[in-house]
Amino acid sequence: MIVAEELYKSFKRVGASRRKPAHEQRIVAVNSVSFKADDGCITGLLGPNGAGKSTTLRMLATLVKPETGTASIDGYDVSKHVLQVRQHLGFMPHNAGIYPRLTARENIQYYARLCGLNRKDSLQRSGELIEQLTMTKFADRRANGFSQGQKTKVALARALVHRPQTIMLDEPTNGLDVMATRGLRDIIRQLAADGHCILFSSHIMQEVAALCDHIAIISDGIVAIEGSLNEILGRTGQTDLEDAFVSATQALSKGDDE
Ligand SMILES: Nc1ncnc2c1ncn2[C@@H]1O[C@H](COP(=O)(O)OP(=O)(O)OP(=O)(O)O)[C@@H](O)[C@H]1O
Ligand SMILES: [Mg+2]
Repeated sequence: MIVAEELYKSFKRVGASRRKPAHEQRIVAVNSVSFKADDGCITGLLGPNGAGKSTTLRMLATLVKPETGTASIDGYDVSKHVLQVRQHLGFMPHNAGIYPRLTARENIQYYARLCGLNRKDSLQRSGELIEQLTMTKFADRRANGFSQGQKTKVALARALVHRPQTIMLDEPTNGLDVMATRGLRDIIRQLAADGHCILFSSHIMQEVAALCDHIAIISDGIVAIEGSLNEILGRTGQTDLEDAFVSATQALSKGDDE
């Protein structure tokens, strides 16, 4: 389970003049992000480019520290219990940097060892994932030159290798063809049915509407609304997610103006 409460993170603006006021020297990537993602559910973090999705996921994955606000993964605070969070969490980052000189299998095994699996378990677990994710044909090829779909599968296998309870995927279907997207959706559904907590980020409304039990809409670093698709439609008075998205984010910017 993931709980995020008022997460905030800014970055130094490259090349900003020191004479500018302090707030103009920084970019606020995540302003106020609060939401909950339950076990056995697929939760979608839906927002446009630059909304703060990746920064939010990186904070939850303990890769970036929140400046203010708190978050926990399976009850472990992301700032205080980094090791436990990493044990409970599988994270597939956007453009996952897999090692091009290693084969797919070696990439997965290497990650398994980093996660603390012994040699025998890491061999066995990578074999299992290679079968499950239908990677047999390219498992023993070096990753250099892999297609987007092949890279995504390796990255997903790496995220799942230590059997984490909570799984976060940053734009997982980016660059995947229709069949690969379908395959990934089936895997995500199965993981949720097995009781895992799944959080994935996307800017694609249809994908989120089709797959998610719970949706958090993020815009300009703020979660504007969260709930099931029907709850969001009901609360915004709309009939489709795209209109609900516009309505929720406009309500947010009106609130800012006042
Ligand atoms: N390391 C960084 N340094 C400076 N600015 C950053 C950094 N990381 C993120 N930002 C800025 O924070 C904002 C949010 O970025 P983020 O990557 O979280 O958005 P996103 O919702 O994942 O977007 P996308 O859909 O394009 O992946 C953007 O304006 C981005 O330029
Ligand atoms: Mg992103």
